[in-house]
Amino acid sequence: MSNHFSNPISRRGLLKAGAGFAALAFPALRPAQAAIGNEYRITAKKGRVPLLGGRYPETAVWHYNGAVPGPEIRVRQGERLRVAVENRLDEETTVHWHGMRVPNAMDGVPHLTQAPIAPGETFVYAFDCPDAGTFWYHPHQRGSEQVGRGLYGPLIVEEPEPIPVDRDVTWVLDDWRLLRDGQISDDFDNMMDAGMAGRIGNTATVNGRLPETFAVRGGERIRLRLINAANARIFALAFEGHRPRVVALDGQPVEPHAPEDDRVVLGPAMRADLVIDMTGTPGARFQVIDTFYRDLEYRLLDLVYADRPLREAPPDTPLRLPDNPLAEPDLATAERHEITFGGGMMSGMMGGGMMDGGMPGRDMGRMMDRMMPGMRHGGVWTVNGIAAEGHVMDPMLTLARGRSYVLALHNDTAWHHPIHLHGHSFRVLGREGTPTRHREWQDTVLMAPRERVEIAFVADNPGDWMFHCHILEHQAAGMMGVIRVA
Ligand code: C2O
Ligand code: CU
Repeated sequence: MSNHFSNPISRRGLLKAGAGFAALAFPALRPAQAAIGNEYRITAKKGRVPLLGGRYPETAVWHYNGAVPGPEIRVRQGERLRVAVENRLDEETTVHWHGMRVPNAMDGVPHLTQAPIAPGETFVYAFDCPDAGTFWYHPHQRGSEQVGRGLYGPLIVEEPEPIPVDRDVTWVLDDWRLLRDGQISDDFDNMMDAGMAGRIGNTATVNGRLPETFAVRGGERIRLRLINAANARIFALAFEGHRPRVVALDGQPVEPHAPEDDRVVLGPAMRADLVIDMTGTPGARFQVIDTFYRDLEYRLLDLVYADRPLREAPPDTPLRLPDNPLAEPDLATAERHEITFGGGMMSGMMGGGMMDGGMPGRDMGRMMDRMMPGMRHGGVWTVNGIAAEGHVMDPMLTLARGRSYVLALHNDTAWHHPIHLHGHSFRVLGREGTPTRHREWQDTVLMAPRERVEIAFVADNPGDWMFHCHILEHQAAGMMGVIRVA
């Protein structure tokens, strides 16, 4: 099994010379250069990166500071961050600080919270970082293509006293739709992606590389920060032979626990902080596999143990992270609203296949082609019956600042949707009427087909906030709304 999907590229096919492939070293993220204090400069532009590594042709991408992912920005909790974003693309852009509870004017939503950054211009984002955790940044302008071509980077806010680990590692996951020559397929915004599962690709990368191995040492304790930067792919990672514990979700601490079914499920934009104890023997090899889509499992990479262990056994220190300063919603007085997500193709026609994570096959594609006429224009997806066109719209809800709210979300479609609220984190109270075990704080909640999910939060950040599906093709095709906190 290899890191290829339904429309696989062959590594050998990419090589005219036909030589075999060499093991690729695991790419470490480059830290950003902070000039003074927490001042950063990132430049969005076009370039080429060795996504496939080795002797394969470089892939033309759009990136920040010449790399995919962009530089890892690291600050300490409570500190102020200042990032000058220079746009050297041929089109407008913005940067959204996903999951950060920033003031509305710093949220990076074109036309809604700022004028987009024109080519040649620079915009300075500056805000305090109230929450420690794992966040990320990406454009909110034509996200499907801009993020899909490589514009994203990790944003890590460190706790004043982090839990002790041997290594703090970030894996930014992505999924690319590459052609045989290793270049990005430019079929962005096609109706099939928009109306179905979104732009699922054929090549999964970790930190901008097709990885082979990740070197570990026996007795080592690693904090692994996972970020799903893919447009549409949902990952479900299983670490064979290991028992990772989840210590934070979407940047927010959670009671440390083993993930359900021993797999870490991350919809687009979602993050998980894991603590993994390396309990293997010297020289051992274990697979990390992605099992989300039925019958399309693949090996992401291998954990490879060094010949000499770091120590006899991993440490047994506490894993619980200190809570962030989030206001606790008062459920007794919370006002309740229902929100229904609708639309998409094949609703009610899918049968079982897609419901449990199947992928569209070729027959489906042909069926789609017959259904396309008449669906080319206007939104395909709706929130409470309305398909958004662009980021500026009348708010679907106006919330009173400081008040608690419960939103009952109903996925009335045959597809998964990771639903993201800007400017706030919310507690996930329950699914299908059953309370969640950890009442986790999230900023993006993954909804299964037909699922009902209840979330709660205090509307304490004033402004107009996007509330949208983070499958970027669904967002572009209407699954987006505005929630106003006034
Ligand atoms: Cu990560 Cu509205 O976005
Ligand atoms: Cu969606």
